[in-house]
Amino acid sequence: MDKPAAFALYREELEDTLRDLLDDGWPPLLYRMMRYHLGWEDADGNPTSGRGKALRPALCLLACEAVGGNWRTALPAAAGVELVHNFSLIHDDIQDQDRERRHRPTVWSLWGRAQAINAGDSMFSLARLSLLRLSEYGLDSGTVIEAARVLDAAALDMIEGQCLDLSFEDQLDIGLDTYLKMISKKTGALFGCSLRLGALAGGGDPEVVEGLDQFGRCLGIAFQVRDDMLGIWGMEVHMGKPLANDIRRRKKSLPIVYALANSEGEMRERLIEVYNRPSLDEDDVSDVLAGLESLGASEYCYRTAKDRKDEALAGLDALDISGKACDELREVAGFLLEREF
Ligand code: IPE
Ligand code: IPE
Ligand code: MG
Ligand code: MG
Repeated sequence: MDKPAAFALYREELEDTLRDLLDDGWPPLLYRMMRYHLGWEDADGNPTSGRGKALRPALCLLACEAVGGNWRTALPAAAGVELVHNFSLIHDDIQDQDRERRHRPTVWSLWGRAQAINAGDSMFSLARLSLLRLSEYGLDSGTVIEAARVLDAAALDMIEGQCLDLSFEDQLDIGLDTYLKMISKKTGALFGCSLRLGALAGGGDPEVVEGLDQFGRCLGIAFQVRDDMLGIWGMEVHMGKPLANDIRRRKKSLPIVYALANSEGEMRERLIEVYNRPSLDEDDVSDVLAGLESLGASEYCYRTAKDRKDEALAGLDALDISGKACDELREVAGFLLEREF
């Protein structure tokens, strides 16, 4: 399936909004790292491509339209959520020690962890500065303050999720419900916030604003489950990361949490032995892959992602909104879960 038109439609204006914040800053290194991470430049500062999918801004702008607003009103919020997202990725790559993202070296692997932290922090600050520009787009100050509260609350939720995620690395008895709560924070919160901000900027009724937030959160959970599957079974060519990367990294993503919760006897002992070790060899990786296969971990994850997507769509159908932007929101939901293996 082609990417929905929404992704391309808003891109140019979104990038103009971001460029305005990111061009010509001082010291140049700080802004170079950020432009590099966004895929606008290579490490030497030459123009290049390699951008992210801009899902969250697309959802934000569509939510604004879906409640009857003009999507341009929500541009500062859309840029804000994209900057918070990219701040989270720059820091996430340090935390996960990943050297590649979007088929390119990560910021920390080029400029070191200390400067990458600065690049991430700057993006977070720019996110709020961008959002505050909503006041230049005709929104009253009460709505702008509420939007700033929503963005900061979602960023905090996301960081709580990241903290839980890292703490799971040393645990073997995480449990499926706890894991799903964690991804609701680390990924669901910012998806929900993207729609909430768009709906707020568009002047949506409170129950519709809340409903769109819930739609986004469910979608974000489904999206993260899909990402967890791709982290194990995804092809390198699609992921921009090595095959079975999350197993090599001993990440406790959903397939592993499921396997630890559902295995018995020899298989369970082998999994525990592998996940108690500081690093894995190729035999360990094959054994884990075979264990996941025999337990049906991939089917479980697929079902979990589909259930969350269906829940999201049912919630959207129950809201008192309709029109082209609503249809596009449904299309985006479909696209999110069709990322290839
Ligand atoms: C990656 O998100 C991090 C997750 C929440 C899984 P995206 O896949 O939306 O990242 P980009 O911006 O398109 O690269
Ligand atoms: C994604 O974390 C969520 C955030 C960055 C907040 P992951 O570590 O699961 O995502 P990828 O696979 O590195 O993009
Ligand atoms: Mg990561
Ligand atoms: Mg991570």
